[in-house]
Amino acid sequence: MKHWHLDQLDWDSFDPSRVDPDILAVVKAASVVERNGVDYAVYLNHVFSDDADFQEAADNWAIEEVQHGDALGRWSMLADPKWDYPEAFERYRSTFHIDLNTTHSVRGSRTGELIARCMVETGTSSFYSSLADATDEPLLKTICKLIAADEYRHFKLFYDHMHRYLKREKLGPWTRTRIALGRITESEDDELASAFYTTNEPASLQYDRKRCIAGYMSRAMKAYRQKHIDRVTGMVFKTIGFKPHSRLHAWVSKGVYALIRQRQRSFAKTAIRLGA
Ligand SMILES: [Fe+2]
Ligand SMILES: [Fe+2]
Repeated sequence: MKHWHLDQLDWDSFDPSRVDPDILAVVKAASVVERNGVDYAVYLNHVFSDDADFQEAADNWAIEEVQHGDALGRWSMLADPKWDYPEAFERYRSTFHIDLNTTHSVRGSRTGELIARCMVETGTSSFYSSLADATDEPLLKTICKLIAADEYRHFKLFYDHMHRYLKREKLGPWTRTRIALGRITESEDDELASAFYTTNEPASLQYDRKRCIAGYMSRAMKAYRQKHIDRVTGMVFKTIGFKPHSRLHAWVSKGVYALIRQRQRSFAKTAIRLGA
């Protein structure tokens, strides 16, 4: 069940004078990744082949992810009328694939898979919260707030299922930490880089992961503030079984924010050097 619909948005509230080109670039990239949620639902249906409850939840989840893509894609076409969302999505699909012919999670267990899903939803809910705060464009602000609320519900969905599996599979805190950190560091792999490439760069230019991830991250990381990172680290702590809102949490959150600022500067330098 969707919590909102594209038709209920006030598309006439769009204000072209308030579009930030850097935010537009990351929104275009995010639109195609979101729309690709259908593939992940197929993958999750294979991994949880005998769990009808979870399969139904995953199918509903994918419908919401596709709507995120459609909202962001439609907004991007208003902001850049020369850009074509369906065409960009087709180009993304022909560049980036996930392995759908599997019956086992790439994370080694179902609990591991659900931890990885929690990390993705942690990342997306904080990403859209930070974009909602960073943009002055009223329509995008509304869209990002609605999506961020969906992403937080997705986090809770996967978190609850993770606890169900944890009772059977009993993964300790360090294994959970390893899986969580592994998924977080994957954000610099091809998924986002190829999304940036296929939505922001001409096909005549050859794909270069380093250039494209720098183009994406240098823009996306700019929107984060300490309060968003406090939330991210709290959700990560909860997932791996550590107490959030503790002194350790505050300390880690400050460290992660400093790291993000430093990474943003480094990606920005690379982006300028490689022309992204
Ligand atoms: Fe999403
Ligand atoms: Fe989500």
